[in-house]
Amino acid sequence: MLQDMDAYWMPFTANRQFKKAPRLLAKAAGMHFWTPEGREILDGVAGLWCVNAGHARPKIVKAIAEQAAEMDYAPPFQMGHPKAFALAEQLVKLTPPGMNKVFFTNSGSESVDTALKMAIAYHRVRGEGARTRLIGRERGYHGVNFGGISVGGMVANRKMFGTLLAGVDHIRHTHDLARNAFSVGQPAHGAELADDLERLVALHDASTIAAVIVEPVAGSTGVLIPPVGYLQRLREICDRHGILLIFDEVITGFGRTGNPFGAQTFGVTPDIMTVAKGITNGAVPMGAVLVKQEIHDAFMQGPEHLIEFFHGYTYSAHPLACAAALGTLETYADEGLLTRASQLQGYFADALHSLKGLPHVIDIRNLGLVGGIELQPFAGQPTKRAFDVFLDCWEQGVMIRTTGDTIALSPPLIIEKPHIDRLVDTIAAAIKRAA
Ligand SMILES: Cc1ncc(COP(=O)(O)O)c(C=O)c1O
Repeated sequence: MLQDMDAYWMPFTANRQFKKAPRLLAKAAGMHFWTPEGREILDGVAGLWCVNAGHARPKIVKAIAEQAAEMDYAPPFQMGHPKAFALAEQLVKLTPPGMNKVFFTNSGSESVDTALKMAIAYHRVRGEGARTRLIGRERGYHGVNFGGISVGGMVANRKMFGTLLAGVDHIRHTHDLARNAFSVGQPAHGAELADDLERLVALHDASTIAAVIVEPVAGSTGVLIPPVGYLQRLREICDRHGILLIFDEVITGFGRTGNPFGAQTFGVTPDIMTVAKGITNGAVPMGAVLVKQEIHDAFMQGPEHLIEFFHGYTYSAHPLACAAALGTLETYADEGLLTRASQLQGYFADALHSLKGLPHVIDIRNLGLVGGIELQPFAGQPTKRAFDVFLDCWEQGVMIRTTGDTIALSPPLIIEKPHIDRLVDTIAAAIKRAA
């Protein structure tokens, strides 16, 4: 070990395993990282679902450098700076019609907790203060803050942390290997699983429910593509009962599914959307909550000198983040990246589904430039087979990600066909070795 690694407690990492055999990254450009020794690593996961335009893009680099020199920080409470307003205007040009207000945060987790608070407060300001209950979905991932893990549905992220938020319930997840294994694109079966929300309405009464939050495509829980008609049905049920629908678009935002947002790919407009990651191409931490006009407007009452929503972060709309995001949106627009996944998804799907038949591959899922390859776990050792594949790919110069026993792929949207071939060939060889 060149460096003392003792002090850094790494997030979501097997710390002891890592420190015995560190995987260090020192440089990045385009589709690649490089290790400190200069070994080239193909990025199959856009860093962590965030570097959608590829690494070290000149307009983003320049925007950050110039902003740091011009104004490092500006307080966001009772003050503003021009780039925050400019960015909000740019963002609402990309959202579905009617979603034209933007609240800035610094991460996906903060966006989620902001959205949940906004939903509860919205009902209260319009006189329905009994609507405080929040509904998530089993296997959902909404970051790691207390709101997010409460509505989230991943047991490892919840079980260590006490009683979580009160008044939260969950609808069933949509993963159904028996009916949908090896579906190309959206699976055919499972729209009726949305009706589980009716069960919770019958149990709690709609008058107590503020919002339902789901990821249009669940990523961290193993890449679960929504069944055809499922999100539409969820929207209809929410409308019927006056429940807000929140799409957590932290990974589906900014071109991942072939449109700026999953909402457009699936043709369903939520009331609130949470985003982060791709908003700045991962270059500076930033998140945002995109909101329908009427939700924002409900808060705009009472004396004008009073704060309308008691919420915000010291670094909301940080100047460096706003500059990075403006550079990012320009890069996306210059290169047509927000729709590029729709052009490449056929090739990507064919490449992924060519892995069908390899040992222990029990499902392959895809949509846009998102891929999931689910492996049969080693008996009694869940997650190990996928982790072995991850380590093997790293040795072969390819970065993938695993969650449970699923390999999750989300390459930068600048990926070219030869990169897809290399990614999938490397994974195929690693899967064979992990037998
Ligand atoms: C759907 C979803 N929501 C929220 C988050 C949390 O984002 P962050 O890690 O920026 O807090 C993630 C992160 O992967 C995510 O996938």
